[in-house]
Amino acid sequence: MTEAVTIARDGEIAIVTIDNPPVNAMSFHVREPLMAALNALRDDASVAGIVLACAGRTFVAGADITEFGKPMQQPELRDLIAALETLGKPAVAAIHGTALGGGLELALGCHFRVAEASAKLGLPEVKLGILPGGGGTVRLPRLVGPIKALDMIVSGTPISAKDALASGLVDAIDEGDLVAKAVAFAREQAKSGTPPVAVRDRNNLIENADLAAFDARAAELAKKARGLEAPVACAESVRNALTLPFDEAQAKEREIFAKLVAGDQSKAQRHLFFAEREAAKVPGVGKDVKPREIARVGIIGAGTMGGGIAMAFVNGGIPVTILEMSREALDRGLGMIDKNYAISVSRGSLTEEAKAKRMAAFTPTTDYADLADCDLIIEAVFEEMSVKKEVFGKIEAVAKPGAILATNTSYLDVNEIAASTSRPQDFLGLHFFSPANVMKLLEIVRGAKTAPDVLATALAVGKKIGKVPVVVGVCHGFVGNRMLGARGAETEPLLLEGATPDQVDKVFTDFGWPMGPFQMWDLAGLDIGWRNRKAQGKKAIIADTLCEQGRFGQKTGRGMYLYESGSRTPTPDPEVAALIEEKAKELGIERREISSQEIVERTFYPLINEGAKILEEGIAARASDIDIVWVNGYGFPIGKGGPMFWASLEGFGKIVERLDYWYARTGKEIFKPAELLRKAAETGKLADAA
Ligand code: 3HC
Ligand code: NAI
Repeated sequence: MTEAVTIARDGEIAIVTIDNPPVNAMSFHVREPLMAALNALRDDASVAGIVLACAGRTFVAGADITEFGKPMQQPELRDLIAALETLGKPAVAAIHGTALGGGLELALGCHFRVAEASAKLGLPEVKLGILPGGGGTVRLPRLVGPIKALDMIVSGTPISAKDALASGLVDAIDEGDLVAKAVAFAREQAKSGTPPVAVRDRNNLIENADLAAFDARAAELAKKARGLEAPVACAESVRNALTLPFDEAQAKEREIFAKLVAGDQSKAQRHLFFAEREAAKVPGVGKDVKPREIARVGIIGAGTMGGGIAMAFVNGGIPVTILEMSREALDRGLGMIDKNYAISVSRGSLTEEAKAKRMAAFTPTTDYADLADCDLIIEAVFEEMSVKKEVFGKIEAVAKPGAILATNTSYLDVNEIAASTSRPQDFLGLHFFSPANVMKLLEIVRGAKTAPDVLATALAVGKKIGKVPVVVGVCHGFVGNRMLGARGAETEPLLLEGATPDQVDKVFTDFGWPMGPFQMWDLAGLDIGWRNRKAQGKKAIIADTLCEQGRFGQKTGRGMYLYESGSRTPTPDPEVAALIEEKAKELGIERREISSQEIVERTFYPLINEGAKILEEGIAARASDIDIVWVNGYGFPIGKGGPMFWASLEGFGKIVERLDYWYARTGKEIFKPAELLRKAAETGKLADAA
């Protein structure tokens, strides 16, 4: 027996402990000795019951995801669960930390479950594009009822120990010594003399289940699946548990699992799981680098971004001092924040009391001296280099030594702003996305002189407030907005050459984006881009003309589309079609049929190409970092794994060939294939930055 599984005794109760750091995943080197242990304990007449516990920070957090896609070595998780169920003596799972996926399924193989009050229990497989494959969909409804099981499995969101107790998933909660409590529990059960009943044999909650109510809920959930197969498969499998005998339902679960795990969506979602964890490992920032402490954050500007960023910190438990130019601007900003929280209260996701507590965590001011106790100060004022430099001059005069200074600029040169201060080592970009209290992505922009512990702090505080941080280098637009520029460069030419706005948008939504570029323009307001273009002396033929006509998008009821009074549903507008034709004529462009494939090649391929250039320049450290940026900040469909992962599925060779074609035809830089992409076309793999 290896150290991954050990057996200790407390009288007639055996304590089996799994120890497989960091998260006790059910790897082969755990399964094998665990099976041996269970077999030995079954045959040992001196053992009256067993407790299944884990060493380290958590109970089993699931199957070992790194083993997926490889031939499964025996014994499998379901064999272990069957062994537990047929022990002939009570088995009690002692759950601390998280019991997730295969971990919870293992606990469902036990006859009883005792959890620490802080434990979380769930079946998050759906987030990996699969369903619980160890009997979770057939056992969970037997304990918590069909609808609760459906909600848990389709959402993948873990529940608290308290909720688990209330819903019947755990039998007791412990506040003290968990294993001792589980041992006492097992002892009591063994003494009672009643043979333990396996979860698979508890049918009272699923007999006569209300299938109509179940189907109605499943249909509601399916609407949110947005092209992902796993949520729908999860619902189907839970339904099988209600209509089929246990073994048959479990066999079907297995079948669906095998199909999903071999599919591209699950590969993409597993890629994203590991990509997110990779993104936390930053070259030059070792594990030994200690983050600075962030107890209070200062924010300059209470506009769209400043307000949202401030909310993100307060929601994450960090108080904020927020500074504006005037009392009126402050009142306006805090008014917006108050309104946002009021919406959460009206939706039932926040209590009045919690709202009051959050509002009390904001300290509004117009005086820079009040920033003296802030550990991190983030600027979110107008996008103007001179304004930013002036603001940092004032910040610097009051900030304490070691305070971290950050800009939320979208495009400006972070090194130039850093150089205007005397503390470039303490300076970095923290690029949040709008709405900043909601959007997960945080681009951490590493300046030429940013100190490693400043980056470590940004990563830690970003994670603390629930963001997905990705470290990027300095360039115009960083990773996300720079690639967005490449994706959007051909949208207007496509219209002029013959496509329609709804045709282009449909290619995007069919691909899985939440909306297409023109729907996005209308949502954000065409006037925003117009104003920016005017400031930069740039022009957009169609969009500028629409703005001149007062068509700003949804807010004016007309933009690239028409919006019937108050509706958010876009309807194609003949006036826009006429305008496009007129402009094409003026420019001497002969309009022609544009295929969906052409739209893909002129929007998605430049996106990939720019990503490859970003990698080449070392602006992103890894292709997977780019995927994390696009999935969390720009709505790239999760089931496609991000642009660079998708490119590997689409075929680097095909992409390069078509980019070459379009480059030869247009001479546009966005089509000129990156060298890295050419290499990938030969090797089949995109190399990360050196
Ligand atoms: N398999 C393999 N590796 C895993 C893993 C798993 N199930 N879960 C976590 N890891 C690895 C991570 O990749 C990371 O590795 P690294 O240090 O080399 O980057 C390390 O464990 C620590 O993970 P986190 O950084 O995520 O640690 P946290 O403390 O932040 O979070 C956690 C812990 C909540 C357990 C989180 O890791 C998590 O959510 N894990 C995945 C849970 C999950 O999806 N389980 C279901 C798996 S599928 C399954 O069970 C199928 C079954 O039904 C047959
Ligand atoms: P905004 O116009 O909504 O807010 C800017 C706020 O800064 C205003 O409330 C203004 O009163 C205040 N302000 C201006 N000068 C100031 C000064 N000298 N001192 C104190 N306060 C001052 O602008 P928004 O959209 O919030 O943008 C702010 C920054 O965030 C910009 O750099 C922008 O590029 C960036 N950004 C914007 C995103 C967006 O989607 N709006 C996304 C990501 C970054």
